[in-house]
Amino acid sequence: MTRYHPTLVALHWILAIMIIVALVMGGQVLAALPNDSPDKMFSLRAHMSIGLIIGILMVARLVTRVKTQHPPKADTGNALLNMGGQVAHWALYAFVLLMVASGIGISVTAGLPGIVFGGSGAPLPETFNDLAPRAAHGIISKLLALTILAHIAGWLYHQFVLKDGLISRMWFGNRT
Ligand code: HEM
Ligand code: HEM
Repeated sequence: MTRYHPTLVALHWILAIMIIVALVMGGQVLAALPNDSPDKMFSLRAHMSIGLIIGILMVARLVTRVKTQHPPKADTGNALLNMGGQVAHWALYAFVLLMVASGIGISVTAGLPGIVFGGSGAPLPETFNDLAPRAAHGIISKLLALTILAHIAGWLYHQFVLKDGLISRMWFGNRT
C-alpha cells in the first residue's frame, strides 16, 4: 500500500482549505467584529455553517481512515520524530472535533441557532466572552494552529531534507 484511500486524500485537501479559512476568518474577522456591528450576523452565519460542514466531513474522514487500508507508518529514521508525527496526526483530528464541539457549545449557550438561522429577530448578546465554551474555542484554536504549523514543518522536512516524496502518499494514483 503506497497511498491513502482516494476518499481520504480528497477529504484531506478539502478539509485543509476549509479549516485554514475557518481559523483565519474566525480569528481575524469574526472575533474582531463587535456583536452590535451590522456585519456580525453575516459573518456568524458563514462561520457557523463552514464549521458545521467541517464537523460532518471530519467525522466522515475519521470513519474512512479507520475503515480503509493505509500505507505503513512514515519513517524519518528518528524514533522521536516518528512518534511526533503520529501524535500530531491524532491531535489534528482531536483539535478539529473539539473546535466544532466548543463552537456548538457557544452557539447553544448563546441561543444562536434561533437568532442567526431561525429569524427570531432577537438581538445577539452583547458579547460571547463570558461564556466558558467561547474561552475553550479560543484556546483550542491556537493549539490547532500550532499543530497545523508543526504538521507543515513535518512535510517540509520530508520534502526538502529527507527528500522521500511523502506527499505522494496523500495524493491520487496507483495504490499498490
Ligand atoms: C473546525 C472548525 C472551527 C474553527 C477552525 C473555528 C475557528 C474559530 C476561531 C479562530 C475563532 C476566534 C477565536 C479567537 O480569536 O479567540 C472562532 C470564534 C467563534 N466561532 Fe468558531 N471555529 C470552528 C467551528 C465553529 C462552529 C461549528 C461554530 C458554531 C456552530 C463556531 C462558532 C464560533 C463563534 C460563535 C465564535 C465567537 C465569535 C466572537 O467572539 O465574536 N465555530 N472560531
Ligand atoms: C489544516 C489542515 C490539515 C489537517 C487537519 C491535516 C491532517 C492530516 C492528518 C490527520 C494526516 C494523517 C493521515 C490521516 O490519518 O488521515 C495527514 C497526513 C498528511 N498531510 Fe495533512 N493536514 C492538514 C494540512 C496539510 C498541509 C497544508 C500539508 C502540506 C503542505 C499536509 C501534508 C500532509 C502529508 C504529506 C500527509 C501524509 C503523511 C503520511 O503519509 O504519513 N497536510 N494530514
